[in-house]
Parts: sequence; structure tokens; C-alpha cells
Amino acid sequence: MRGRAGGASAPAGQVCLDYTGCLSERVGAAGLTRSEIRKACRGARSGLERLRASFDDGTHGFDAVLDDRRGIAAAVREGRRLARLADTLVVNGIGGSALGARALASALTSRRRLVVLDNVDPDHVHGRLRPLDPEQTAVNVVTKSGSTAETMANLLVLLAWMEKALGPRHVRRWCATTSPRSGDLLVLSRRLGLRTLAVPENVGGRFAVLTAVGLLPAAFLGLDVDGLLEGARAMRRHCWTAAPEANVGVLGAVLLHLLATCRGRNVQVLMPYASGLVHLADWYGQLWAESLGKRHDRKGRLVETGQTPVTAVGATDQHSQLQLYMEGPHDKVLTFVAVENFDRDPPLPRLHRDLGSLGYLGGRRLGELLDAERRGTELALSEAGRPNLTWSVPRVSADVLGQLIYMFEFQTALAGELYDVDAFGQPGVEAAKVAAFALMGRPGYEDESRRIERGLRRRRAVVSSH
Ligand code: PA5
Repeated sequence: MRGRAGGASAPAGQVCLDYTGCLSERVGAAGLTRSEIRKACRGARSGLERLRASFDDGTHGFDAVLDDRRGIAAAVREGRRLARLADTLVVNGIGGSALGARALASALTSRRRLVVLDNVDPDHVHGRLRPLDPEQTAVNVVTKSGSTAETMANLLVLLAWMEKALGPRHVRRWCATTSPRSGDLLVLSRRLGLRTLAVPENVGGRFAVLTAVGLLPAAFLGLDVDGLLEGARAMRRHCWTAAPEANVGVLGAVLLHLLATCRGRNVQVLMPYASGLVHLADWYGQLWAESLGKRHDRKGRLVETGQTPVTAVGATDQHSQLQLYMEGPHDKVLTFVAVENFDRDPPLPRLHRDLGSLGYLGGRRLGELLDAERRGTELALSEAGRPNLTWSVPRVSADVLGQLIYMFEFQTALAGELYDVDAFGQPGVEAAKVAAFALMGRPGYEDESRRIERGLRRRRAVVSSH
């Protein structure tokens, strides 16, 4: 910890975590004492050891994918091949099979276009496809299980749409990213002759952005895949070598876990001060929610634990949500992402300097105002006794995104150890998938269908306006 404030940075000062706003000396009783944090950091060591062992024995693979040279090369090759055929890539996937690609595409600029179909809202699906030229479109269908109802339904829509426009030659514009061993998408790909890329069996959807799931779209868009992976590797080195109290990944997990379990901060608001990072916040929200929101701990005890993620963007949501965070229930921790430099940030023109609300802005930069907004919010929250922490990054680049992605994955996996839950399963999601199969009459789900129908027939409480 540095001086009177609290902070850690990694690697080479790239991502810096300032947790001064989590300290009791700054925010009062809602905050944590330095000795509590030190003790929790020491306690995290056993969790780190368990996590390390689960990577070393291959149980979990999000660490190892950074060294999978063949898998990375295949994804990049495939992304570039599709880029030679089309200027738009439709990613058809949902949850962990879509959020990572969207986060990368919205953070980094590209001349190419990514369209994500991650819902079966007919207006959304047909509305997104209508303006596209099939001659300039490629499709990446992404489903690890190869059976998720939303993705398979949109697959039917896309197959018919592409085939109608292009005939049999549409097949070369496809790539399926799925389990290399099982699933109907694998069977269908072989039947139709679609190219396939593998999602490693030991990497779950929400931890898969640095596999073919995110790398194919990144390569299609012409993003700096090497930079992305180098950033992730540098952060991996930091997270596994820095002492816990100077480690951005360990501290992130420890602070958020302590604030949730010892200070009742059951909601985490992730608020990047950069519009391009709003989808990274969505991706993180899924990672945090699906990994830690668990009914049972690993000993099978009922715990019903987790911390609810909320996404906001600064400065926009200062004018919509901040009132609640400043004065509402004491159940939140605010986590900011601050960007130090923007690609283009010219001085504002010095116009109408006689008007008080314009004069002071002329010659300053939008980035300066954004930073002042964030710092002011952080201070006001701290003064109101509301815990907060800030991850600062020098800029939004592929390398920085790689660092953030790995850091958030590591932090989430370690938080799973601290909560003592299986961060890598998602029984609640699977239950909803089964219910959808049953209600849609998928063979093999008849018993479940009868059980659900019985439940739906129970007396309901419904009112309508007419
Ligand atoms: O993170 C997860 O495991 C989930 O969000 C899945 O990614 C999501 O349910 C989609 O699953 P699949 O890739 O099997 O279609």
C-alpha cells in the first residue's frame, strides 16, 4: 500500500488500482481498515494455491489459452479469411459466447463492422439483418454446447437468409466456434462443410474471450490481437508474482469480497468513464454475476451468495443513477475505470467567452472535463461514506484491454475461492436452458415440460389496462 492512500499498479504501471475510497479512514464505518485488508490478503494465499493447482492440473483453462499458439493462430487465420470475403461479421451467440466480442469491438476502432445477434427478439434479429448485404457478410456462430436454443434458432434464420441470397457458396462465409468433441453444431458443421474452431473444454463461455470466441471477431475487425494477448500475459505475470498487497487482481477480489460479506455491499456498480468501455462493463457484469451468484458453497451448504453487478457509464449516468448511489441504500460499492489519455482530444474552441458557463471551458479538453467529473464523483461519494475504488488505465488500447480482461477473470476466479463457491459452473443458467427446451417441445424434455405446464396452470395474479 502506498503512503496514506491505498493503491497498487501493474504491469509496469499500466493498470493502477486506487482503493483509497474503500478505507475506513476515508469513508468511515462503511470502509475497511488497513489491518482487515492485510489479514484478508494473507488469507487469500490458500485460495491462490487452490486456483493455481486447478490450472496446473488442467481443470480450468483460461490461463493456459494465452499459450495455445495453435489455437490462437487458427482463430486469427479464420478471422482474416472471413475479412477477405466480407466487411461485416455477424456473431451469433449469447452470454459468454457474445459479450466478449462485443466488448472488444466497441472499445477499439475498426473499419469493419460487427453485428451481434444475442437475442431472439424478432424485431432485433430481422432489424439487424435487414440493412446487411449478404455478399458482404460473414457469419460466426458461437456456442460451446452447440445447442443453446437462442443461438440455434438464429442459426436457422441466418442459414436460410444466406442460402437464399448466395446459394451453396454461402458455406465458405461461415465459421462455427464450438466444442471440438460434441454438440449439434459440430454435427451440422460437418454435414454442411462449415469450418470450425474449438472452444477448449476446460474454458467456460464467460472466461472464453481470449480463445477463438473473441479472437476470431477481433482478427476479422483487424484489431491488434498480439497486443491484446501480450497485455493479458503481462497481467498474468503480475497477478501470479506480485505480493498480494501490491497485486491489482488479488486486491480487487479481496476488497470486493470483504465489502460484500463484512459491510453489506451487495451491489457493485461498474462505471467506466469511457463510452467505448460500456460493453466491457457488460461482459464483466456477466463474469461476476454468473461466477459468484451461487446457491450452494463447495461443501454443498446453502449460501445464496454473490454481488449484483450494475453497469453505468460516466459521465452520462451521473445524471441518471448517481443520485441513488449518493443518497440511497448503503448497499453498493462503486468501481470506476478511469482513462488517462484519449486518441483525439483537441482543445475546445474559445467561443462566447463572456458567458460564464462557456468561458471557463474554452481551451480545455473534453478528457479534462471527464476526468474532473470522475474525480468529483469519487470525492463526493467518499465524503458521503460510500465505498469506491478506481482502476486507471493509460489509454484504451488492445494491450490495455488484454490486461483488464485477464485481471477481471483472475479477480473473479479468486473471488470464487474467497466465497468458497464454484466460480466455473452455472447451474441456474442451465436450468433456464432446460426450461426453454421443454416449453418449445424439444424431444427428451417431456417430463420437464409437464412439470412446467403444471406450474404455469396455477392461479396467476395478472391485471391489464383494458
Ligand atoms: O458463461 C457461460 O457459460 C454462459 O453464459 C454461456 O456462454 C451461454 O449460456 C451460452 O452458452 P453456449 O456457448 O453453450 O451457447
